[in-house]
Amino acid sequence: MNDILEVRNVTKRFGMGGVFGRNHITAVNDVSFTIEAEKPEIFTIVGESGSGKTTLARMILRLETPSEGEILFHGTRVDLRASRAERLKFMHEVQPVFQNPFEAFNPLKEVDRYLISTARTFLKLTKQSDIEQAMDDALQKVGLSYAEVKGRFAHELSGGQLQRVSIARALICNPTLLIADEPVSMVDASLRMAIVNLLKSLRDDFGVSVIYITHDLATAYYIADRIIIMQKGDVVEMGPARAVLDNPEHPYARLLKESVLSIDDAGYGDLDPATELMDQINKDRTGRTKMVTRDDGRLVRVAE
Ligand SMILES: Nc1ncnc2c1ncn2[C@@H]1O[C@H](COP(=O)(O)OP(=O)(O)OP(=O)(O)O)[C@@H](O)[C@H]1O
Ligand SMILES: [Mg+2]
Repeated sequence: MNDILEVRNVTKRFGMGGVFGRNHITAVNDVSFTIEAEKPEIFTIVGESGSGKTTLARMILRLETPSEGEILFHGTRVDLRASRAERLKFMHEVQPVFQNPFEAFNPLKEVDRYLISTARTFLKLTKQSDIEQAMDDALQKVGLSYAEVKGRFAHELSGGQLQRVSIARALICNPTLLIADEPVSMVDASLRMAIVNLLKSLRDDFGVSVIYITHDLATAYYIADRIIIMQKGDVVEMGPARAVLDNPEHPYARLLKESVLSIDDAGYGDLDPATELMDQINKDRTGRTKMVTRDDGRLVRVAE
């Protein structure tokens, strides 16, 4: 088995309305995909707010337990109650990068202390010179150096620099998979491309696969190898990113693409196509659906 990660029919339901409430919401519904070890790739998850992207990422990171289905890591079930050694082994290979780097770092702690403790915990390094070397190696990969961050606090760095430090922290472990949940949304537009290009170089130069979660179809188009489009917990379309984004088939995927394009002619656009697509989407959601495979390798959700 040469998959780093296999997400197999994973569903997550959250109870609503207090402890005795019987209502629940299905945040993620029956999602399946695999990330292969030999083929580093950028696997992108897009979808509107509330479509279940973060919940899916949190289940992969073992911060949340699936209600149904399972998540295999190198063919083995990911167990939340695993021993510390097993948890460390998992975290050695699968590392998160969060949305807001200013929240990820305590403002009262020098940022290099995060790097130091990661090097100690995961690489078991004890000698100061070895730790500094590991930190510098990781920081060089993101275009920084140890000298630039040494002794500095989060507020002394720009958002883009800090996000790069948080990626460097993840890279200290030499992970095979990074899970980046909206890593550029809190970063200034001018610095976004630097982070996006960095993710690309992690794939191309260091063989790291990235699960890249975003609202932004433009960056998805630019770096994604494969994409899944989620709507209210369901995957509605999934496949090679260029094929899907050039020519989305599912009405919701088409709507996403049209909403991006319509910003250019805001106020002048014709709302009818969107209304038509919305009708189609609502109709599709009420009936039974299934995923079908197309010739170009994509999977699309269609009415049964
Ligand atoms: N701990 C929780 N308890 C109850 N409901 C939750 C919980 N976490 C998420 N949800 C609900 O699950 C759904 C999916 O949320 P999720 O955060 O995964 O969406 P998302 O796609 O990441 O959205 P965004 O783009 O805004 O980050 C939402 O309806 C959300 O309110
Ligand atoms: Mg989210």
